[in-house]
Formats: sequence, C-alpha cells, structure tokens
Amino acid sequence: MSKVYPHNASRAGAVAACERSLARLKTDYLDLYLLHWRGRFPLVETIEAFERLRAAGKIRHWGVSNFDFADMGELIAATGGQNVAANQVLYNLTRRGIEWDLLPWAQARRLPVMAYSPIEQADLIGRRELAELAFAHGWTPAQLAIAWVLDRDGVIAIPKTSSRAHLQENVGALDVTLSAEIRRVLDIAFPAPRGPSPLEML
Ligand SMILES: NC(=O)c1ccc[n+]([C@@H]2O[C@H](COP(=O)([O-])OP(=O)(O)OC[C@H]3O[C@@H](n4cnc5c(N)ncnc54)[C@H](OP(=O)(O)O)[C@@H]3O)[C@@H](O)[C@H]2O)c1
Repeated sequence: MSKVYPHNASRAGAVAACERSLARLKTDYLDLYLLHWRGRFPLVETIEAFERLRAAGKIRHWGVSNFDFADMGELIAATGGQNVAANQVLYNLTRRGIEWDLLPWAQARRLPVMAYSPIEQADLIGRRELAELAFAHGWTPAQLAIAWVLDRDGVIAIPKTSSRAHLQENVGALDVTLSAEIRRVLDIAFPAPRGPSPLEML
C-alpha cells in the first residue's frame, strides 16, 4: 500500500507519483493506493489517474484518507468515485467522532474503514481506565485498544510498531473478544460522540 500526496494528485501527477513509488518499492503493482488527504486538484482528476493506474495493472484498488462525511459524498457523486475501496481515518477510543456519520455511512455501503493510530500513538497505553480493564482480563492495554477498533463492523486497524515484542503483543488483539459489559465500561470512560464534529487528523 502507498499514498499520493495531494500536491501530486493531478491527472498526470498521480500517475507519475505512483510510478516513482513502484520504482522505489521495487514492485510492479500496489494492492492499494490512497489519496493522503483532499487538496487543490478536483477529485475527478485524481479518480481518473487512479482508474488509469488500475487499468494498467499498476494498482489493484484505490482509496482515500482523511476524507470526512461530506468529502465522501462528493467523491461518490463524481464519475468513477463509486470505485473507492477504503477510507483511512484517525479512529480509536479517544477519537470516536466518525461514529456519528462517517462510520455508519461506510458500513451501510460496505466500504472498509482503516483506523490509523489505533492506540493514539501509544498515548492510550497510559490511560488508567483502559489499563485496569485490560489487565483484569489478562490482556494488555494495546491489545484491548486494538481489539475495540476491530470489534466495529467493517473497520480494520493499522497499528505501527518497530518492536518485535510489541508486534507479537498486538497480534494478540485478534484473540480478544469484547463482551457487552466491557463495551459498556469503555463507553463510559471513552464516550461516543453526541453530535457531528469535523474529522480529526494527526
Ligand atoms: N493516513 C494518515 O494521515 C495517517 C496519519 C498518521 C498515521 N498513519 C498511519 O497509521 C499507522 C499507525 O499510526 P501511528 O504510528 O500514528 O500510531 P499508533 O499505531 O497508534 O501508535 C504507534 C506507537 O505506539 C507504540 N506501540 C505500538 N505497539 C505498542 C505496544 N504494544 N505497547 C506499547 N507501545 C506500542 C509504537 O512504538 P514502538 O515502535 O516502540 O512499538 C509507536 O510509538 C502508521 O502506519 C501510519 O503510517 C496514517
């Protein structure tokens, strides 16, 4: 997977940027290519470039990142926009804004949401409410934070680590099953949104 910066996301620029990435990565194709965030080029130009890359076999799928609810509406309305394969956004226990509108919309369309910074760049590890609940069940805070994201329909998580031990620990999140009671306790400590809010970014 790779992303194109908005300043490269013109009709010709996105194709050239992708080709540079393919060369740097020493690969013939990317499984997924994302527009990093909205910029000055019209969405139709970027979509056209993505579709050209797809037709040429240089990418398998394309998607977007940091697109809010209204941005997704515009994208879907644009020619070719219905082919979007994913939206990568900030989502974790402390950043639940997308649950108001963007997430239910994506779930209804069966459009995968990729949650970036699922442990809030390690800040969640130190949150007492999370840590106490995790340790009481034999999990670590990181495992519970990641499992909470994965528990959502249609959401995948992309935690980052440069440590083998953390990687092994984080994979353990796949074995964590959340009960209704655990969800309830987490909802009290980390409340769901009570209204619309602009999409947060890191
Ligand atoms: N689309 C976008 O605009 C956007 C924006 C931001 C990030 N992202 C992507 O999202 C991915 C992850 O986001 P992120 O790196 O911002 O945040 P994150 O995955 O929530 O947190 C990563 C941090 O947590 C630490 N960590 C990981 N596992 C841990 C564990 N089990 N125990 C303790 N610490 C742990 C890591 O340190 P160690 O290396 O020491 O484990 C690292 O400092 C990245 O691949 C990034 O490229 C995308």
